[in-house]
Amino acid sequence: MTWLITGGAGYIGAHVARAMTEAGERVVALDDLSAGYPARLPSDVPLVEGSSLDGALLKRVLAEYGVTGVVHLAARKQVAESVAQPTRYYRENVGGLATLLEAVAEAGVGRFLFSSSAAVYGNPDVELITEDTPCAPVNPYGETKLTGEWLVRAAGRAHGISTVCLRYFNVAGAATPELADTGVFNIVPMVFDRLTRDEAPRIFGDDYPTPDGTCVRDYIHVADLAEAHLAAARRLVDRESGDGDLTVNIGRGEGVSVRELITVIGEVTGDRRTPVVEARRPGDAPRAVASAARAAEKLGWTARRGVREMAESAWRGWLLHHGQ
Ligand SMILES: NC(=O)c1ccc[n+]([C@@H]2O[C@H](COP(=O)([O-])OP(=O)(O)OC[C@H]3O[C@@H](n4cnc5c(N)ncnc54)[C@H](O)[C@@H]3O)[C@@H](O)[C@H]2O)c1
Repeated sequence: MTWLITGGAGYIGAHVARAMTEAGERVVALDDLSAGYPARLPSDVPLVEGSSLDGALLKRVLAEYGVTGVVHLAARKQVAESVAQPTRYYRENVGGLATLLEAVAEAGVGRFLFSSSAAVYGNPDVELITEDTPCAPVNPYGETKLTGEWLVRAAGRAHGISTVCLRYFNVAGAATPELADTGVFNIVPMVFDRLTRDEAPRIFGDDYPTPDGTCVRDYIHVADLAEAHLAAARRLVDRESGDGDLTVNIGRGEGVSVRELITVIGEVTGDRRTPVVEARRPGDAPRAVASAARAAEKLGWTARRGVREMAESAWRGWLLHHGQ
Protein backbone atom coordinates (compact mmCIF):
# COMPACT_ATOMS: atom_id res chain seq x y z
CA MET A 1 0.00 0.00 0.00
CA THR A 2 1.01 3.62 -0.57
CA TRP A 3 -1.08 6.15 1.36
CA LEU A 4 -1.71 9.74 0.35
CA ILE A 5 -2.26 11.88 3.46
CA THR A 6 -3.89 15.20 2.58
CA GLY A 7 -3.30 17.90 5.19
CA GLY A 8 -0.21 15.89 6.14
CA ALA A 9 1.73 18.95 7.32
CA GLY A 10 -1.06 19.87 9.77
CA TYR A 11 -1.31 19.12 13.46
CA ILE A 12 -3.18 15.81 13.18
CA GLY A 13 -1.90 14.92 9.69
CA ALA A 14 1.74 15.01 10.81
CA HIS A 15 0.92 12.70 13.73
CA VAL A 16 -0.84 10.31 11.35
CA ALA A 17 2.09 10.43 8.89
CA ARG A 18 4.47 9.63 11.72
CA ALA A 19 2.39 6.77 13.15
CA MET A 20 1.92 5.21 9.71
CA THR A 21 5.58 5.43 8.66
CA GLU A 22 6.71 4.08 12.04
CA ALA A 23 4.38 1.14 11.42
CA GLY A 24 6.08 0.52 8.06
CA GLU A 25 3.48 2.07 5.74
CA ARG A 26 4.58 4.02 2.64
CA VAL A 27 3.26 7.57 2.81
CA VAL A 28 3.16 10.71 0.66
CA ALA A 29 1.73 13.98 1.96
CA LEU A 30 -0.18 16.70 0.13
CA ASP A 31 -0.69 20.08 1.79
CA ASP A 32 -1.27 23.62 0.57
CA LEU A 33 0.59 24.88 3.68
CA SER A 34 -2.22 27.33 4.51
CA ALA A 35 -1.99 26.09 8.10
CA GLY A 36 0.72 23.42 7.98
CA TYR A 37 4.51 23.28 8.36
CA PRO A 38 6.72 20.98 6.24
CA ALA A 39 9.12 20.52 9.18
CA ARG A 40 6.46 18.55 11.03
CA LEU A 41 6.69 15.67 8.55
CA PRO A 42 9.11 12.74 9.00
CA SER A 43 12.12 13.28 6.72
CA ASP A 44 11.31 10.21 4.61
CA VAL A 45 7.78 11.40 3.73
CA PRO A 46 7.66 13.34 0.43
CA LEU A 47 5.54 16.49 0.59
CA VAL A 48 3.65 17.72 -2.46
CA GLU A 49 2.69 21.35 -2.01
CA GLY A 50 -0.76 21.89 -3.48
CA SER A 51 -4.49 21.97 -2.90
CA SER A 52 -7.21 19.33 -2.75
CA LEU A 53 -9.06 21.67 -5.13
CA ASP A 54 -6.48 21.08 -7.88
CA GLY A 55 -7.81 18.04 -9.74
CA ALA A 56 -4.97 17.87 -12.28
CA LEU A 57 -2.36 17.87 -9.53
CA LEU A 58 -4.24 15.18 -7.59
CA LYS A 59 -4.37 12.90 -10.64
CA ARG A 60 -0.63 13.37 -11.17
CA VAL A 61 0.21 12.62 -7.53
CA LEU A 62 -1.99 9.50 -7.38
CA ALA A 63 -0.33 8.14 -10.54
CA GLU A 64 3.25 9.22 -9.82
CA TYR A 65 3.36 7.71 -6.33
CA GLY A 66 1.20 4.69 -7.12
CA VAL A 67 -1.25 5.64 -4.37
CA THR A 68 -3.53 2.79 -3.25
CA GLY A 69 -5.26 4.45 -0.28
CA VAL A 70 -6.10 8.00 0.84
CA VAL A 71 -6.36 9.54 4.31
CA HIS A 72 -8.12 12.86 3.79
CA LEU A 73 -7.52 15.40 6.55
CA ALA A 74 -7.07 18.61 4.55
CA ALA A 75 -9.80 21.05 5.57
CA ARG A 76 -10.51 24.32 7.23
CA LYS A 77 -11.57 23.71 10.83
CA GLN A 78 -12.53 26.90 12.66
CA VAL A 79 -16.17 27.05 13.69
CA ALA A 80 -16.37 30.85 14.02
CA GLU A 81 -14.68 31.33 10.65
CA SER A 82 -17.17 28.91 9.09
CA VAL A 83 -20.07 30.99 10.42
CA ALA A 84 -18.53 34.13 8.89
CA GLN A 85 -17.41 32.48 5.60
CA PRO A 86 -19.80 29.59 4.87
CA THR A 87 -19.24 29.58 1.10
CA ARG A 88 -15.50 29.29 1.59
CA TYR A 89 -16.01 26.33 3.96
CA TYR A 90 -18.33 24.54 1.55
CA ARG A 91 -16.00 25.24 -1.38
CA GLU A 92 -12.82 24.10 0.34
CA ASN A 93 -14.11 21.30 2.59
CA VAL A 94 -16.83 19.84 0.37
CA GLY A 95 -15.53 21.01 -3.04
CA GLY A 96 -11.98 19.84 -2.20
CA LEU A 97 -13.35 16.46 -1.15
CA ALA A 98 -15.42 16.09 -4.35
CA THR A 99 -12.39 16.94 -6.48
CA LEU A 100 -10.28 14.42 -4.59
CA LEU A 101 -12.92 11.67 -4.84
CA GLU A 102 -13.17 12.20 -8.60
CA ALA A 103 -9.41 11.75 -8.94
CA VAL A 104 -9.50 8.73 -6.60
CA ALA A 105 -12.30 7.08 -8.59
CA GLU A 106 -10.56 7.73 -11.90
CA ALA A 107 -7.28 6.31 -10.62
CA GLY A 108 -9.02 3.20 -9.25
CA VAL A 109 -7.87 3.82 -5.66
CA GLY A 110 -9.93 1.44 -3.51
CA ARG A 111 -9.53 2.77 0.05
CA PHE A 112 -10.53 6.10 1.52
CA LEU A 113 -10.43 7.36 5.10
CA PHE A 114 -12.21 10.64 5.90
CA SER A 115 -11.48 12.94 8.80
CA SER A 116 -14.90 13.80 10.25
CA SER A 117 -15.82 15.41 13.53
CA ALA A 118 -18.13 15.20 16.53
CA ALA A 119 -19.43 18.51 15.15
CA VAL A 120 -21.71 16.41 12.89
CA TYR A 121 -23.88 15.62 15.92
CA GLY A 122 -24.59 19.20 16.98
CA ASN A 123 -25.76 19.27 20.61
CA PRO A 124 -27.63 16.02 21.31
CA ASP A 125 -29.05 15.63 24.80
CA VAL A 126 -27.67 12.14 25.52
CA GLU A 127 -25.27 10.64 28.07
CA LEU A 128 -23.10 8.97 25.43
CA ILE A 129 -23.14 9.84 21.73
CA THR A 130 -23.22 6.69 19.60
CA GLU A 131 -22.74 6.62 15.84
CA ASP A 132 -26.53 6.16 15.56
CA THR A 133 -27.30 9.37 17.46
CA PRO A 134 -29.03 11.62 14.91
CA CYS A 135 -26.72 14.14 13.23
CA ALA A 136 -27.84 17.78 13.47
CA PRO A 137 -24.81 20.07 13.05
CA VAL A 138 -25.22 23.60 14.43
CA ASN A 139 -22.65 25.46 12.31
CA PRO A 140 -21.35 25.42 8.71
CA TYR A 141 -18.14 23.62 9.76
CA GLY A 142 -20.16 20.68 11.11
CA GLU A 143 -22.39 20.79 8.04
CA THR A 144 -19.38 20.44 5.73
CA LYS A 145 -18.25 17.38 7.71
CA LEU A 146 -21.69 15.74 7.56
CA THR A 147 -22.06 16.55 3.85
CA GLY A 148 -18.54 15.20 3.40
CA GLU A 149 -19.53 11.89 5.02
CA TRP A 150 -22.55 11.57 2.70
CA LEU A 151 -20.34 12.29 -0.29
CA VAL A 152 -17.69 9.78 0.80
CA ARG A 153 -20.29 7.02 1.24
CA ALA A 154 -22.05 7.81 -2.04
CA ALA A 155 -18.77 7.85 -3.98
CA GLY A 156 -17.72 4.65 -2.23
CA ARG A 157 -20.91 2.90 -3.38
CA ALA A 158 -20.74 4.31 -6.92
CA HIS A 159 -17.06 3.56 -7.54
CA GLY A 160 -16.34 0.52 -5.39
CA ILE A 161 -14.24 2.29 -2.78
CA SER A 162 -14.08 0.99 0.82
CA THR A 163 -14.52 3.95 3.15
CA VAL A 164 -14.12 4.86 6.80
CA CYS A 165 -15.31 8.10 8.42
CA LEU A 166 -13.67 8.85 11.76
CA ARG A 167 -15.59 11.31 13.95
CA TYR A 168 -12.97 12.83 16.26
CA PHE A 169 -14.00 14.33 19.58
CA ASN A 170 -11.80 16.99 21.31
CA VAL A 171 -8.21 16.49 20.19
CA ALA A 172 -5.34 17.63 22.45
CA GLY A 173 -1.68 16.94 23.26
CA ALA A 174 1.33 16.17 21.09
CA ALA A 175 3.51 13.10 20.49
CA THR A 176 6.58 15.38 20.57
CA PRO A 177 6.77 19.15 21.27
CA GLU A 178 7.61 19.87 17.60
CA LEU A 179 4.29 18.34 16.49
CA ALA A 180 2.12 20.40 18.85
CA ASP A 181 -0.86 22.40 17.66
CA THR A 182 0.31 26.00 17.24
CA GLY A 183 -3.18 27.50 16.85
CA VAL A 184 -5.12 28.94 19.78
CA PHE A 185 -8.59 27.67 18.91
CA ASN A 186 -9.16 24.88 21.44
CA ILE A 187 -9.48 24.97 25.19
CA VAL A 188 -6.00 23.67 26.12
CA PRO A 189 -4.01 26.27 24.11
CA MET A 190 -6.57 28.93 25.11
CA VAL A 191 -5.82 28.29 28.80
CA PHE A 192 -2.06 28.31 28.13
CA ASP A 193 -2.47 31.60 26.28
CA ARG A 194 -4.21 33.19 29.27
CA LEU A 195 -1.58 31.94 31.73
CA THR A 196 1.24 33.17 29.49
CA ARG A 197 -0.39 36.61 29.47
CA ASP A 198 -0.52 36.50 33.28
CA GLU A 199 -4.31 36.25 33.18
CA ALA A 200 -6.70 33.79 34.82
CA PRO A 201 -8.23 31.07 32.60
CA ARG A 202 -11.83 31.72 31.60
CA ILE A 203 -14.80 29.41 32.09
CA PHE A 204 -17.78 30.20 29.91
CA GLY A 205 -20.74 29.35 32.13
CA ASP A 206 -20.80 27.37 35.38
CA ASP A 207 -24.56 26.91 35.60
CA TYR A 208 -24.95 24.02 33.16
CA PRO A 209 -26.79 20.87 34.31
CA THR A 210 -23.50 18.99 34.87
CA PRO A 211 -21.83 17.82 38.14
CA ASP A 212 -19.73 20.99 38.61
CA GLY A 213 -21.83 23.27 36.39
CA THR A 214 -19.20 23.54 33.62
CA CYS A 215 -19.36 21.91 30.17
CA VAL A 216 -18.23 18.30 29.87
CA ARG A 217 -16.23 17.07 26.88
CA ASP A 218 -14.42 13.96 25.67
CA TYR A 219 -10.70 14.71 25.17
CA ILE A 220 -8.55 12.47 23.02
CA HIS A 221 -4.75 12.48 22.82
CA VAL A 222 -3.58 13.14 19.26
CA ALA A 223 -1.13 10.20 19.49
CA ASP A 224 -4.08 7.89 20.29
CA LEU A 225 -5.99 9.47 17.40
CA ALA A 226 -3.06 8.77 15.06
CA GLU A 227 -3.07 5.12 16.17
CA ALA A 228 -6.81 4.99 15.41
CA HIS A 229 -6.02 6.05 11.84
CA LEU A 230 -3.47 3.29 11.53
CA ALA A 231 -6.01 0.76 12.84
CA ALA A 232 -8.63 2.08 10.41
CA ALA A 233 -6.17 1.98 7.48
CA ARG A 234 -5.31 -1.64 8.29
CA ARG A 235 -8.97 -2.49 8.56
CA LEU A 236 -9.55 -0.94 5.11
CA VAL A 237 -6.77 -3.09 3.67
CA ASP A 238 -8.12 -6.27 5.27
CA ARG A 239 -11.47 -5.71 3.61
CA GLU A 240 -11.95 -6.25 -0.07
CA SER A 241 -11.91 -3.08 -2.13
CA GLY A 242 -15.47 -1.76 -2.33
CA ASP A 243 -16.46 -3.58 0.85
CA GLY A 244 -18.81 -0.96 2.24
CA ASP A 245 -18.41 1.87 4.67
CA LEU A 246 -17.75 2.28 8.36
CA THR A 247 -18.38 5.31 10.58
CA VAL A 248 -16.69 5.42 13.97
CA ASN A 249 -16.44 7.80 16.93
CA ILE A 250 -12.91 8.46 18.11
CA GLY A 251 -13.02 9.46 21.77
CA ARG A 252 -12.24 8.09 25.20
CA GLY A 253 -15.84 7.59 26.26
CA GLU A 254 -15.11 9.60 29.42
CA GLY A 255 -16.35 13.07 30.23
CA VAL A 256 -14.04 15.71 31.70
CA SER A 257 -15.43 19.08 32.79
CA VAL A 258 -13.85 22.39 31.85
CA ARG A 259 -13.13 23.02 35.53
CA GLU A 260 -11.48 19.61 35.94
CA LEU A 261 -9.35 20.20 32.84
CA ILE A 262 -8.23 23.64 34.09
CA THR A 263 -7.28 22.06 37.43
CA VAL A 264 -5.09 19.49 35.62
CA ILE A 265 -3.50 22.26 33.54
CA GLY A 266 -2.80 24.17 36.77
CA GLU A 267 -0.99 21.13 38.20
CA VAL A 268 1.02 20.63 35.01
CA THR A 269 2.05 24.27 34.55
CA GLY A 270 2.38 25.07 38.26
CA ASP A 271 0.08 28.05 37.70
CA ARG A 272 -2.99 27.30 39.80
CA ARG A 273 -4.75 30.65 39.68
CA THR A 274 -8.51 30.58 40.12
CA PRO A 275 -10.43 30.69 36.82
CA VAL A 276 -12.84 33.55 36.16
CA VAL A 277 -16.40 32.61 35.26
CA GLU A 278 -17.95 34.47 32.36
CA ALA A 279 -21.27 34.20 30.52
CA ARG A 280 -22.14 31.07 28.55
CA ARG A 281 -21.13 31.12 24.88
CA PRO A 282 -24.01 30.58 22.49
CA GLY A 283 -24.06 27.10 20.97
CA ASP A 284 -22.05 25.29 23.67
CA ALA A 285 -23.64 21.96 24.59
CA PRO A 286 -23.57 21.01 28.31
CA ARG A 287 -22.13 17.60 27.53
CA ALA A 288 -20.58 15.84 24.50
CA VAL A 289 -19.04 12.46 25.25
CA ALA A 290 -18.50 9.63 22.75
CA SER A 291 -19.48 6.05 23.03
CA ALA A 292 -16.14 4.40 22.23
CA ALA A 293 -17.65 0.92 21.86
CA ARG A 294 -17.75 0.71 18.06
CA ALA A 295 -14.10 1.77 17.70
CA ALA A 296 -13.09 -1.01 20.08
CA GLU A 297 -15.26 -3.57 18.30
CA LYS A 298 -14.60 -2.64 14.66
CA LEU A 299 -11.07 -1.22 14.78
CA GLY A 300 -9.71 -3.09 17.81
CA TRP A 301 -8.60 0.33 19.03
CA THR A 302 -9.01 2.03 22.42
CA ALA A 303 -7.43 5.26 23.65
CA ARG A 304 -4.58 4.71 26.11
CA ARG A 305 -3.55 8.21 27.18
CA GLY A 306 -5.33 10.35 29.75
CA VAL A 307 -5.98 14.05 30.20
CA ARG A 308 -2.83 14.60 32.26
CA GLU A 309 -0.65 13.26 29.45
CA MET A 310 -2.49 15.50 27.02
CA ALA A 311 -1.92 18.59 29.17
CA GLU A 312 1.75 17.75 29.87
CA SER A 313 2.64 17.09 26.25
CA ALA A 314 0.68 20.11 25.01
CA TRP A 315 2.47 22.31 27.58
CA ARG A 316 5.89 21.13 26.37
CA GLY A 317 4.82 22.01 22.83
CA TRP A 318 3.48 25.39 23.95
CA LEU A 319 6.80 26.26 25.65
CA LEU A 320 8.70 25.28 22.50
CA HIS A 321 6.50 27.32 20.13
CA HIS A 322 5.52 30.24 22.34
CA GLY A 323 8.49 30.59 24.67
CA GLN A 324 8.40 30.65 28.48
N1 LIG B 1 -8.16 19.46 15.78
C1 LIG B 1 -9.35 18.99 16.14
O1 LIG B 1 -9.73 19.08 17.33
C2 LIG B 1 -10.26 18.30 15.14
C3 LIG B 1 -11.45 17.71 15.59
C4 LIG B 1 -12.28 17.08 14.66
C5 LIG B 1 -11.92 17.01 13.33
N2 LIG B 1 -10.76 17.60 12.91
C6 LIG B 1 -10.41 17.51 11.48
O2 LIG B 1 -9.11 16.97 11.37
C7 LIG B 1 -8.47 17.47 10.19
C8 LIG B 1 -7.09 17.99 10.54
O3 LIG B 1 -7.22 19.00 11.53
P1 LIG B 1 -5.97 19.66 12.25
O4 LIG B 1 -6.39 19.96 13.64
O5 LIG B 1 -4.76 18.86 12.01
O6 LIG B 1 -5.93 21.05 11.46
P2 LIG B 1 -4.69 21.78 10.73
O7 LIG B 1 -5.21 23.09 10.26
O8 LIG B 1 -3.48 21.75 11.60
O9 LIG B 1 -4.42 20.80 9.50
C9 LIG B 1 -5.09 20.90 8.27
C10 LIG B 1 -4.01 20.86 7.20
O10 LIG B 1 -4.63 20.85 5.93
C11 LIG B 1 -4.01 21.81 5.11
N3 LIG B 1 -5.05 22.25 4.17
C12 LIG B 1 -6.18 22.95 4.44
N4 LIG B 1 -6.93 23.09 3.33
C13 LIG B 1 -6.25 22.44 2.33
C14 LIG B 1 -6.53 22.20 0.96
N5 LIG B 1 -7.65 22.65 0.37
N6 LIG B 1 -5.63 21.49 0.25
C15 LIG B 1 -4.50 21.01 0.81
N7 LIG B 1 -4.19 21.20 2.11
C16 LIG B 1 -5.07 21.91 2.86
C17 LIG B 1 -3.49 22.90 6.02
O11 LIG B 1 -2.38 23.60 5.50
C18 LIG B 1 -3.11 22.08 7.24
O12 LIG B 1 -1.76 21.66 7.19
C19 LIG B 1 -9.42 18.51 9.60
O13 LIG B 1 -10.18 17.89 8.59
C20 LIG B 1 -10.31 18.86 10.79
O14 LIG B 1 -11.57 19.32 10.38
C21 LIG B 1 -9.92 18.23 13.79
